[in-house]
Amino acid sequence: MSYWQELEHKYYMSTVERVPVTLVRGQGTRVWDEDGGEYLDFVGGWAVNSLGHCHPVVVEAVVGQVRTLIQTSNQFYTVPQVRLAELLVQNSCLDKVFFCNSGAEANEGAVKLARRYGKLNLGGAFAVITTMGSFHGRSLAMTAATGQSKFQQPYVPLPDGFINVEYNSIETIKAATTSQTCAVMLEPVQGEGGVNIPDDDYLAAVRQWCDLKGILLILDEIQTGLGRTGTLFAYQQSGIEPDIMTLAKGLASGIPIGAILATERASVFTPGEHGSTFGGNPLACAAGYATLRFIIDNDIAGNANRVGQYLIDGLESLRRKFQFITDIRGRGLLVALEFSSDIAESIVMACLDRGLLVNRLKPNALRFMPPLIIGNEEVDEALSILDKALSTIIS
Ligand SMILES: Cc1ncc(COP(=O)(O)O)c(C=O)c1O
Repeated sequence: MSYWQELEHKYYMSTVERVPVTLVRGQGTRVWDEDGGEYLDFVGGWAVNSLGHCHPVVVEAVVGQVRTLIQTSNQFYTVPQVRLAELLVQNSCLDKVFFCNSGAEANEGAVKLARRYGKLNLGGAFAVITTMGSFHGRSLAMTAATGQSKFQQPYVPLPDGFINVEYNSIETIKAATTSQTCAVMLEPVQGEGGVNIPDDDYLAAVRQWCDLKGILLILDEIQTGLGRTGTLFAYQQSGIEPDIMTLAKGLASGIPIGAILATERASVFTPGEHGSTFGGNPLACAAGYATLRFIIDNDIAGNANRVGQYLIDGLESLRRKFQFITDIRGRGLLVALEFSSDIAESIVMACLDRGLLVNRLKPNALRFMPPLIIGNEEVDEALSILDKALSTIIS
């Protein structure tokens, strides 16, 4: 264990099982450790470094903004905040934006907005239907929203007002809807839950049900948004539009930011009803504007779509060679590889030894969520390392 890793054990709360590497530098699709070891990064800051590490447009925007104005109170208008909000609205189906600092905070705010809507328009309805296998964040309310008992059990009792139902089943949503329901909250593709892709007609059926009942549809696009799944937002692949959408992760390519977007109708907050000290500060919004502008102007979503398909095709070739690969699924550059047994940890370590970072999604599955700017060459390199890593497994 290195000096820094020993210090970490002494001083840092043990909330995560770390990979035994201390990263000190990143550039593009690569990162380097304290001993100069180089890695191709297919974790991408956990689906955050959409433009890779230290992309020039992000660096330039951040450095310029740091020298100009970093933080103000939200009592004042600031230019980067308005520019990013305008760009998001111009490129989505939503009308209004609120910025915060993380995904969990964006989802908390979205649920507060839906409850406010319920109070004003649905006779005080407050309950939100979410799905099993979802992941919506680590705050107490979002732990209740997250339909996975491993996240909930250590913290019971949890806040009321969330009902977790089976994913990809409109019938369970219908059965759980009561006069107290104000919204349904879903990921268009479940990320943390396993890169679970619902049937093609699922989101349309949920949209139709919400319209029938007059309740809101909140899409959590924190992992799927900003080009990750091959379109700017994943909802664009399903032919429906949400009333509320949350974003975070890739929005500023690594600078912390979250966002709630809502239609005019759902945008019911009035002054004082919600807020965030750092939310939407000039620094984060300048990074967000530079990132989003680049994603749109360079069709980075299209790149994710093409390169993601190339990655899936390459993984299919590996499946023909390694019988223990049981499933490959994904959209754009959010891809999972599943095995017949719990070998994911060994594969992660075997890839690490050979210079590739991948995520252990489950004991028997890996996830790939590289920067959206990668090309086929990086995929070839990753597949070649993965091939060698998979060869270490005696099946
Ligand atoms: C779909 C989804 N929602 C919410 C979150 C929580 O985001 P954060 O960790 O920024 O609070 C995540 C994080 O992985 C996520 O994937």
